[in-house]
Amino acid sequence: MPAFAAAAPGKAILFGEHAVVYWRPAIAVPVSQVQAKVTILADPMAPTGRVWIDAPDIALQGDLAQLPAANPFHRLIGSMLESLKIQCLPALKMSIHSTIPVAAGLGSGAAVSVAALRALSRFLGHPLTDEQGCRLAFEAEKAYHGTPSGIDNTVITYARPIYFVKGQPFELLQVGRPLTLVIADSGVSSPTAAAVGGVRARWQADPRTYDNLFDQIAAIAGSARTILAGSAIQGLGPLMDDNHAILQEIGVSSPELDRLVQTARNAGAWGAKLSGGGQGGDMIALTSPQAAEQVSLALKQAGATRTIITTIASTIA
Ligand code: PMV
Repeated sequence: MPAFAAAAPGKAILFGEHAVVYWRPAIAVPVSQVQAKVTILADPMAPTGRVWIDAPDIALQGDLAQLPAANPFHRLIGSMLESLKIQCLPALKMSIHSTIPVAAGLGSGAAVSVAALRALSRFLGHPLTDEQGCRLAFEAEKAYHGTPSGIDNTVITYARPIYFVKGQPFELLQVGRPLTLVIADSGVSSPTAAAVGGVRARWQADPRTYDNLFDQIAAIAGSARTILAGSAIQGLGPLMDDNHAILQEIGVSSPELDRLVQTARNAGAWGAKLSGGGQGGDMIALTSPQAAEQVSLALKQAGATRTIITTIASTIA
């Protein structure tokens, strides 16, 4: 019996998280060192339509029909069947393995969705295009965190650096020089929905202040796009520092994240900021290739539970 497998990478947001929910631009990159992998096998002994999910990394195992209605897999698989005009699935086993830390700002939920849609649609003989997969993964993102911008499912589907504005076609970014990033996990688990919900409540209470902060982030993302396309990439460092300061004002940093950001700067990073939903989860630092190891070590000594050094390739031949 053939197995159908597909994988998707993690992601990091370089600029613009939270503001992107409010239609400001953001920049995200794939992180290929971590990934979600989904394998589908037919289960001919089981009754038609039974979907058995086995996902040890996210502590999920069981029959899809028995999972709570709010589980994102219902929305993911339901919207895929609707889109492919398939009434009922053959019995199958879906096994999910992911090295992407959960609730850390690295896009674990979106990566599982993208990989599951790819594997399942191939298994059914109707492979989805990237565009279809991205749209359906966005539906599942809504189940994960209510009002997603769509940046996670987009950067993870296309696995390329993107400039993203909610509701508009995304842009593949020009990257003039390879970027070295050190990503560190604060060890504090932080569901995106809570951080996004908190920002929404504060924005509703004081829209003028928050719209102004989002506009400042938009200006940073615009400058970053220009610098990224050129050769003086160190210039991104101060923009990351500025973006972090605004995220602090927005109320999504934490003492742990602030300490790691400061540690990275002290250890020689060009700039650093939290990445993703915040209030825990990950931070990222931009370094020279030579400084990456020392920054990573300093971050671990300062309490990071895990670090990843990743390189974003230049897109210019
Ligand atoms: O999934 P996370 O934690 O990387 O957060 C995504 C970025 C946010 O801007 C906070 C939310 C969104 O939907 O864009």
